[in-house]
Amino acid sequence: MFVLLTMSIAAWEGNVSIETPQTQIILHAKEGQDLRMAYYGLRTATLGELKASGCDFDFSVLPAFGTVDMVQLPAIQVQHSDGDLNLELQVVNYELQKEGKADVHLFTMQDKLMPVTVKTFYKAYREVDVIETWTEIVNGGKRAITLKRFDSGHLPLRQGDVWLTHLHGDWAAETNVVQEPLTLGCKVIRNTDGARNAHIDAPEVMFSLDGHPSENHGRTIGAALCWSGNYELRINTLLNKFHHFYAGIDPQSSEYVLDPKESFATPHLALTYSEQGMGGVSRNFHRWARTQGKLHRGNGVGDILLNSWEGLYFDINEERMLQMMDDIKQLGGELFVMDDGWFGDKYPRDIDNSSLGDWVVDTRKLPDGIPGLLRDAKKNGVKFGIWIEPEMANTVSELYEAHPDWIIKAPGREPVQGRGGTQVVLDLTNPKVQDFAFSIFDNLLSNYPEIAYIKWDANAPVMNHGSQYLPMDEQSHLYIKYHEALIQLCQRIRAKYPDVIIQDCASGGGRANYGLLPYFDEFWVSDNTDGLQRIYMQWGTSYFFPAIAMASHISAVPNHAVFRTTSLKYRCDVAMSGRLGMEIQPKNMTDDEKAFCRQVISDYKRVRPVIQFGDLYRLHSPYAGDNLASLMYVSKDKQQAVFFWWKLETLKNQHVPRIKMAGLDPDKYYTVRELNRIDNKPLPCEGKSYSGAFLMQTGLEMPYTHDVDYNKLNDWASRVLQLTAE
Ligand code: DGJ
Repeated sequence: MFVLLTMSIAAWEGNVSIETPQTQIILHAKEGQDLRMAYYGLRTATLGELKASGCDFDFSVLPAFGTVDMVQLPAIQVQHSDGDLNLELQVVNYELQKEGKADVHLFTMQDKLMPVTVKTFYKAYREVDVIETWTEIVNGGKRAITLKRFDSGHLPLRQGDVWLTHLHGDWAAETNVVQEPLTLGCKVIRNTDGARNAHIDAPEVMFSLDGHPSENHGRTIGAALCWSGNYELRINTLLNKFHHFYAGIDPQSSEYVLDPKESFATPHLALTYSEQGMGGVSRNFHRWARTQGKLHRGNGVGDILLNSWEGLYFDINEERMLQMMDDIKQLGGELFVMDDGWFGDKYPRDIDNSSLGDWVVDTRKLPDGIPGLLRDAKKNGVKFGIWIEPEMANTVSELYEAHPDWIIKAPGREPVQGRGGTQVVLDLTNPKVQDFAFSIFDNLLSNYPEIAYIKWDANAPVMNHGSQYLPMDEQSHLYIKYHEALIQLCQRIRAKYPDVIIQDCASGGGRANYGLLPYFDEFWVSDNTDGLQRIYMQWGTSYFFPAIAMASHISAVPNHAVFRTTSLKYRCDVAMSGRLGMEIQPKNMTDDEKAFCRQVISDYKRVRPVIQFGDLYRLHSPYAGDNLASLMYVSKDKQQAVFFWWKLETLKNQHVPRIKMAGLDPDKYYTVRELNRIDNKPLPCEGKSYSGAFLMQTGLEMPYTHDVDYNKLNDWASRVLQLTAE
């Protein structure tokens, strides 16, 4: 990072424009005032015009408790060493720094009375329309202070018909889309799991400023808190013409004592603005993730894999591993992942009530150990991956017997135990535990550098608040220090092992967040692999995360989570819209089913760059209530596209809308080819060419059912079309 410009407020007073290619935030600071925001929107506006029209606003970027804009909620609150709870911030310095492909604007504010410094950062990307903001609080005094609230950012939104979109779910039912108008009062979205933060409410939201959320139109703001721990997002609506959005670490039970000279940095809040509705916001986030290091994989291709979990659960042995490797190779896949159940010596991991922490191969199941598995993978020409849960232990484990003081629990109290009645969370605030967690990776990857993939799981929340490592007067640091340590662990792993693919899994999608994804290559969307419910979950997930990050697997029927029987084609057509994989026992598939999957995998390989790196256009929402969902991916040069169409329910003589495509070049002609075809006759559009304009204005009529022999008829209908420009 190098500094371009440094000015003290005495030499500089005025406005700063924080700019991305299309958007800008305008800030201003006056002598004796805190930093204030005047505008967030397209770059076309000038402050002069905004002021002359009364369209600018004037709010603190970080309303401080006690002194600033007291009608608003505070974004920051500090208790000084003498007990005073007020902050009166004034800007004393401004610096512009260059950092890679971004400009970082740093505003330094100082309390008028006490030696507390608050640095507020705005990082504007030069190639993507995303601005990150965060804050650093520095204790410049001689005695400790206590941080009581420490939001990453605050954003005023002019009232009108403003709608909030957020995701709400649960285990096996993640990321349901919730859309609601903002009304008077305070709406709070928060998570207090302690270890994971995306199962129930997600730390990402959108605001549609021009009425009911639209995919393609309307001013829309997206916000993602890049943090893996507890958080609180608040939208406070007052009679002052504005909604006030605040995002930050949840301060509940997290008061943070800052010793003299210490500083505390909040997580980044990533903001994006688009006039192309929610679709525009999603594409901005996806591009930012893939090109600015917010998803470790970036634009690296995601392999097609078979994961052993739903096919075998804990029933792992060498013969079954070999068989699965052989099967995925025969099907055209590239990677095999051995899930839970492979470890434990004194306590073999046969069900979920023991062994976490004992990361030694169970040689009763796998006599040739990992070398044997790598040998078999090599023989079959597939890569090999392995499941671990490094932050966890069972109280039935050799690890716990040796180190009962390594688990999270309040000193002197009995531990609350989770999954299997014995699972506990390791106390990552303890450096010895950090070293242990690192050693799990290090042992596997340094001994067996051929391991290509790690599935990093986390199946327990923090169930009892307390650290046996932290001193009693710092117990409230646990929620924060746990996640700081988790990030440091990720950084340490990535510094030594930049190339291994790591999946972010937490009982499904519990850790899909931009705090962790810079170190992970993809995430497991949900333990629910039902073709139908995945459409809803992947839809919500796609609001913020790119397809390349979404692990999406073909599984058996009846589905193990909802017991629904969907057709194999339907399951394939859904799984193919993300990073395709399989989660099934191939041995139980018929030859016809295998042949179909082989074809699907081979077609996926051809279109995978479009799905994994293309721009997403959501065309018709499953939440619209008319039994249809459709989306498409378009390559950057608009030469290639892949169109997905899924009927959600079949009712006789019930019609679903015809879908207009989006994102194509109106002047190009696209030849249509159906993928994963099961019909006896090709579609009328097969092999024909249509202009992008026609496809976007009129679209293609999709038959409601499949033209198959009578004994193959069922009530599931879906289509995947490949479009290639001439
Ligand atoms: C939860 C994960 O989400 C599953 O995919 C599987 O890995 C199990 N844990 C294993 O215990």
